[in-house]
Amino acid sequence: MPDAPSGVGGELFTEERSAEVVAASFAGTPDPRLRQLLTSLVQHLHAFVKDVELTEEEWGAAIAFLTRTGQTSDDVRQEVILLSDVLGVSMLVETINHRTGGTSTESTVLGPFHMVESPPRQLGENIALDGKGEPCLVTGRVTGPDGEPLAGALVDVWQANDDGFYDVQQPGVQPERNLRGLFTADGDGRFWFRSIVPRHYPIPDDGPVGELLAATARHPNRPAHVHFLVTAPGHRPVTTHLFVAGDPYIDSDAVFGVKESLIREFPVVDDPARAAEVGLPNPFRTVHFDVALLRADQPAVHGAPVGRAS
Ligand SMILES: [Fe+2]
Repeated sequence: MPDAPSGVGGELFTEERSAEVVAASFAGTPDPRLRQLLTSLVQHLHAFVKDVELTEEEWGAAIAFLTRTGQTSDDVRQEVILLSDVLGVSMLVETINHRTGGTSTESTVLGPFHMVESPPRQLGENIALDGKGEPCLVTGRVTGPDGEPLAGALVDVWQANDDGFYDVQQPGVQPERNLRGLFTADGDGRFWFRSIVPRHYPIPDDGPVGELLAATARHPNRPAHVHFLVTAPGHRPVTTHLFVAGDPYIDSDAVFGVKESLIREFPVVDDPARAAEVGLPNPFRTVHFDVALLRADQPAVHGAPVGRAS
């Protein structure tokens, strides 16, 4: 008996049956979820190649692009996440996995810059260590889905500086851990800290993802935002942003992260006594951002996610 032909059941690879033949090669995968993922991936990938009749040159360009995307990534730069972001995949995964049904704060992408731990800070502390930007007081309250305060909730925040860069992008230029802080909400679930009004910034566009954006006439900008990652025992964590109302890119975020419910005004406060009280120059800006978390035992909203194995 000669070697068995490729494929399962002796079926050889053909253009017409390519997806079925390759998918069948994964039929013996012991992990059912891995088997489902690979089978579906092969079906969609082959359908794509057939749909566009991919040329060998295009295949080669795609391989080179993906290779460079991986090679551009290191300890402080994640070009692969960035690629997922500009393709809307990060946002889709986030949205599918954190349906809220309007009962809790909506999530958005983690983004590529939560690469270092935020330093624990006291409530009220100023996270803007480089002295740049428009001073701002950020306040909010963490609650459960019924409005009950979550005392001791952890509020992890990070944002870019007034030049549009995160600290990890400018080692030696910005102070370490600039514009990052891990705050513990008080007994009433409240948190507050000093920072600056965020400014819109371009995602890193000097690598393969930037080439993709340039080739497709897309701008690389993200509307101004502060990142939040809020956790509390017994509750589902939320990864989200606070966006600045009126930002010029609020309707065209390069990574599709904006949700209407996350946009806030940043009004000016002109009150010397209040400014002195919070430790900011007068006048200053303020923003209030409440965060509601679902309980860990609450079922997923809208039923089980479509197509998910149990
Ligand atoms: Fe960001």
